[in-house]
Amino acid sequence: MKNLLITGGAGFIGSNFIRHILQLKPDVFITNLDALTYAGNLVNLSDLPDSANYEFVHGNINDTKLLKTIFNDKKIDTVVNFAAESHVDRSILNPAAFVETNILGTYSLLNVAHEAWKHRMNSVGGEEFRFHHISTDEVYGSLQPDDTPFNEYSRYDPRSPYSASKASSDHLVRAYHHTYHLPITITNCSNNYGPYQHPEKFIPMMIINAIQGKRLPIYGDGLQVRDWIHVSDHCEAIYRVLLNGLNGATYNLGSGSEHTNLEIAGLICDTLDTLLPNSVGESRQKLLQHIPDRPGHDRRYAMDITFVKENLGWQPAISLTDGIMQTVKWYLEHIHWIEEITKNADFSRWVQLNYDGRDERTI
Ligand SMILES: NC(=O)c1ccc[n+]([C@@H]2O[C@H](COP(=O)([O-])OP(=O)(O)OC[C@H]3O[C@@H](n4cnc5c(N)ncnc54)[C@H](O)[C@@H]3O)[C@@H](O)[C@H]2O)c1
Repeated sequence: MKNLLITGGAGFIGSNFIRHILQLKPDVFITNLDALTYAGNLVNLSDLPDSANYEFVHGNINDTKLLKTIFNDKKIDTVVNFAAESHVDRSILNPAAFVETNILGTYSLLNVAHEAWKHRMNSVGGEEFRFHHISTDEVYGSLQPDDTPFNEYSRYDPRSPYSASKASSDHLVRAYHHTYHLPITITNCSNNYGPYQHPEKFIPMMIINAIQGKRLPIYGDGLQVRDWIHVSDHCEAIYRVLLNGLNGATYNLGSGSEHTNLEIAGLICDTLDTLLPNSVGESRQKLLQHIPDRPGHDRRYAMDITFVKENLGWQPAISLTDGIMQTVKWYLEHIHWIEEITKNADFSRWVQLNYDGRDERTI
């Protein structure tokens, strides 16, 4: 790994991953290609250390001409594909953008990577090449309470336009491996949280609304179960897969601990009450309000991480309580970042349409 192309590096996980690599592998040259959609913002990277080994390129993974120039000029030998439309709620309202980026974008990236790899094989030897694709646990569908967690052999059963588009991109990546022998790896990870996550997502929305004393919208009964992992644990897992992952392999990633949305929201309220008691000393749990459920809301996700543990020696290091404490502190210390991200007109419209405008239900 000498010349790394990171797509979607101005988003949540991508920006954390760039920091991770700059710290651990300062000799690697990173090209960050990002279209700067509503979800991508260069303020997420404003604290990067000065490095001659980092360059940002504003562009789209569907732009084949631009991709060819990058692969050629930067002599890319490793791709980490984070670029995606990533919000399930938005995929319900506008699936087209998800097909465009997650499926067609991954396809064009694979095509150009494949050409570049063949070229490298003929000139400098192509063994040192890897296309790493970032995916989600949501491709496996929804678990019943008694089901065992998903492993790497679980059947794909995506249910939202988001997860269907991610499943489709996973299949394309595997197809390029099996058909053309392109060296690939895939990681399917559970729900992430941590610094720089867009405020449309569940945990930042809970934190930011709770800080501002606004209501905390909970879909349906709030008993949907997720396996929350801190983003820095996810980044370390990707790094290990890049270094030692088996060509063609898929690795499931998660924290191994399951919690309902109500438990997470309650933990955030309690954490904030400890760090910043409100003026009247009331628990922020009073702000919780149930709203009608998301259509087709998956009930439970959980990941079996035995394979990655046994093969790469990776396991999550940050417990949920520590991770939420760190994350709440981070948002409290980055009020300016919150203002910067939420001043976007699209975001205000989105919140109003999707959360503020919904009928309240009694708990
Ligand atoms: N957030 C999670 O909990 C989670 C869990 C598992 C997997 N994933 C996957 O991880 C990846 C990153 O997720 P995230 O939460 O950081 O998303 P994000 O929405 O915060 O960031 C996505 C980034 O991709 C960029 N982008 C979007 N379309 C693009 C295009 N056509 N060309 C170039 N750049 C484009 C955006 O500008 C943004 O910077 C996604 O592939 C997502 O499916 C996310």
